[in-house]
Formats: sequence, C-alpha cells, structure tokens
Amino acid sequence: MLEFNHKPVLLEECIQGLNISPDGIYVDGTLGGAGHSKEIVKRLSPKGMLIGIDRDTDALEVAKNRLQEYKNVKYIHGNHDDIKQILDDLEIHEVNGILLDLGVSSYQIDTQERGFSYMLDSNLDMRMDQMQELTAKDVVNTYKEEELARIIYEYGEEKFSRQIAKKIIEARKQKEIQTTKELVDIIKKAVPYYDKKAGHPAKRTFQAIRIEVNNEIEPLYNTVKNAIQSLKAGGRLCIITFHSLEDRAVKKAYTEATRKMYMSKRFTILRMW
Ligand SMILES: C[S@@+](CC[C@H](N)C(=O)[O-])C[C@H]1O[C@@H](n2cnc3c(N)ncnc32)[C@H](O)[C@@H]1O
Repeated sequence: MLEFNHKPVLLEECIQGLNISPDGIYVDGTLGGAGHSKEIVKRLSPKGMLIGIDRDTDALEVAKNRLQEYKNVKYIHGNHDDIKQILDDLEIHEVNGILLDLGVSSYQIDTQERGFSYMLDSNLDMRMDQMQELTAKDVVNTYKEEELARIIYEYGEEKFSRQIAKKIIEARKQKEIQTTKELVDIIKKAVPYYDKKAGHPAKRTFQAIRIEVNNEIEPLYNTVKNAIQSLKAGGRLCIITFHSLEDRAVKKAYTEATRKMYMSKRFTILRMW
C-alpha cells in the first residue's frame, strides 16, 4: 500500500463552494489522495456520482483504496485538460460541480524515485503521468539554451535563468545530466549569490522544468473554459491555484467566461479572489 501524505488545502471552502446536492454529478479533476473527493462523496446519495481524474496511476491506486466503501465513484486515468472527451465517453454531458486542485501533490514531491525534488537525489524524471515519454532528463539534455532560459524564466520566474541555462549546456557537453543532484550542483554554480529570502537556489528551476515536463500552464485556459461549459445551470467550479502562473491563466479564462455567460444569463460566477 502506497504511503500518500497530502493534506487537502482549502477543504472547507471547496466543499462550501461546490454546494453539493446529494443526487448530483461531481468531477474531481485532480483526485490525488482523494482528500477533497472523500468529503464530496460522503455528501452524495447512492444516486449521485463522483468522477475522479488523475494522470498519476499511484494517486488512482491510493484513491481507490481510500474510497473503497463508496460504489458511486468512477476512476479515470487521464488528463483533466480532456474533460469534455472524458465526460463524452461516459455519456455525461453536464455536471453539477468540478474541482481542480492544481499542481503537484506532496506525495509526488516526497517520493524520491519520482525525481521532483531538489532535496532528494534521484533520476531526473518529474512526470506526473508515468506513461508519458517526455521526462526532465529529456528537457535538460536536449532543449536548446534559449529554450531552457525561456522556460526557467517564464515558469520559474528565475532571474538567473540565462546563467543557469548556459551552465546546463556546458555541463551536458561533458556528459549527460542524469540526476537531480547533478542538476542542483550545476544550478548552484550558476547562481552568483545565495539569496536566503528567495529559498533554495534550485527551487525555481525545478518548478520550471516540472511545469514544462507536465505541460501545466498552456492548456489551462482552455481547460477552465471547457470545465465551465460542462456545468449545468447553477453548477459550481472550484479551482485551487498554487502559484501566480496558474492563477493568471485561471483568472483570464474566468473573466472571459463571465463576460459571455452574464450575457446568456445562464451562469453566475462567484469569484473569491
Ligand atoms: C495538489 S494534488 C491534488 C490533491 C488532492 N486534492 C487531495 O486532496 O489529495 C494534484 C493532483 O493532480 C494531478 N494532476 C495534475 N495535473 C493534472 C492534469 N492535467 N490532469 C489530471 N491530473 C492532474 C497530480 O497528479 C496530483 O495527483
């Protein structure tokens, strides 16, 4: 049995926000360890349904175990960016509520062999979906210098992005960069001073590479729009963002949807930011 430690954040707020009706259909697009899902499914009658999506098979295994007493849960190994297709395949066209708790889980970060952490030495991996081909090792060893610098700057908001990209290129000319520790050592050499307030020198580069490997930002805008369109009248969408990049993409999509949907008078968008 996998040890999945992840404390669900904003749990009360999400449950309140979803305004669960017992016979409704709900989607948790980031099932993880089912912390939020358990609270949703508890409130459903046998007529209600929860659809739990995750691209990490470990998360699905843990969630199935944690929710085993509930028979009205469907588990989908997939990407919430495909929410429309997933619902179509289930012949469900509208749902009462959708939850997205964006980003990585503590389980993924803390599991050494998944290669997400700059604190643990491991193969450079960082894939949320273990079936995916692209890994962090591919990004670090095959992307051009300008591309690496752009990613580290945009997704990591790292001011030393150019210096880090340059050092990566120099290092990989000697040998393939294979482990998280090797990458951390390269980053440390590239960062001219250690700004304690900014945290570990590899923190932002690791975030950037993880976002690139898992394509976390680009699809988000359409995902949010598709999620809104998958809701019934009066349906609720709750999204928890972790950093400003996610936050911006979500707010942009919400704002546009609000404009259009006010006109159709079909939806009320409750905003908590
Ligand atoms: C922050 S955790 C969610 C934790 C969960 N709410 C809980 O209480 O345990 C995010 C989860 O979403 C998954 N995930 C991230 N992006 C995804 C995507 N685009 N499609 C499906 N799952 C995704 C990750 O694999 C991870 O398990």
